[in-house]
Amino acid sequence: MRLVKTIKEVREIVKEWKKQGLTVGYVPTMGYLHEGHKSLIEKSVSQNDRTVVSVFVNPTQFGPTEDLASYPRDIERDKALVESAGADLVFNPEPVEMYGSHFTTTVNTTEVSELLCGARRPVHFGGVCLVLTKFFNIVTPDRAYFGQKDAQQLAVVRRFVKDLNFDIEIVPCPIVREADGLAKSSRNTYLSKEERQAAVILSKSLKLGLEAVKNGERSSAKVIDIITKSLETEKLARIDYVEVVDNENIQRTDVIKGEVLVAIAVYIGKTRLIDNFIYKVED
Ligand code: PAF
Repeated sequence: MRLVKTIKEVREIVKEWKKQGLTVGYVPTMGYLHEGHKSLIEKSVSQNDRTVVSVFVNPTQFGPTEDLASYPRDIERDKALVESAGADLVFNPEPVEMYGSHFTTTVNTTEVSELLCGARRPVHFGGVCLVLTKFFNIVTPDRAYFGQKDAQQLAVVRRFVKDLNFDIEIVPCPIVREADGLAKSSRNTYLSKEERQAAVILSKSLKLGLEAVKNGERSSAKVIDIITKSLETEKLARIDYVEVVDNENIQRTDVIKGEVLVAIAVYIGKTRLIDNFIYKVED
């Protein structure tokens, strides 16, 4: 497995693979990799001849008061995980390699990025679309792999790939959880011991919501209420949002029908965590 820092090197390596008729899978990451990322890489390795993983803490998707500077980084550890998952290439560019010294182009979606995290983090999805446009053009993968934990990101990516005619299959991968249910996330490392214990309230509360839906509850307001009341039992938790939206356009729905996304964002101390479930109502 190789680690490269420049766009030129990635292009040369991928060009050679393509000349040999090999398929390329791509897993974009911001590093500090965990079992969730590993599952994406393993899926890509199982479906493609070659797999590229990018490790890049993308500055354009962080707002001015967000955790860009403190976002955890450890490229040696990441390299070992990528290698153990069977990928072929790590692309770990510096910000200047990606953005140069004067960058003026933007890429954005409307509608699908309006609510949930998009409403709280106004520059976030524009930055994600921008960096992915660049990575997709550099890596030119056949397939790209995204975790369901970032459900709105997945919806945004599906939309912009469709709207902008990228010839890339977007492959969604299930949420990977700790034994107690907490969704794996690089930001879990911010939690103190007490906060880590408290954080289990996210998955516990979603489970109650899911049970209600499975038992036939079709009112979004009632499901939101069940989840909210459960989250409120944890004194270290502060709710950012609890929402029920359709999973394609990420717009609110009063009635649970079709495929819905039930998504939450909750502060545990200063750390903002997200989690969700998707439910499809069969007609
Ligand atoms: O999900 C992430 O880690 C990032 O948003 C992504 C897709 C790597 C873009 O920077």
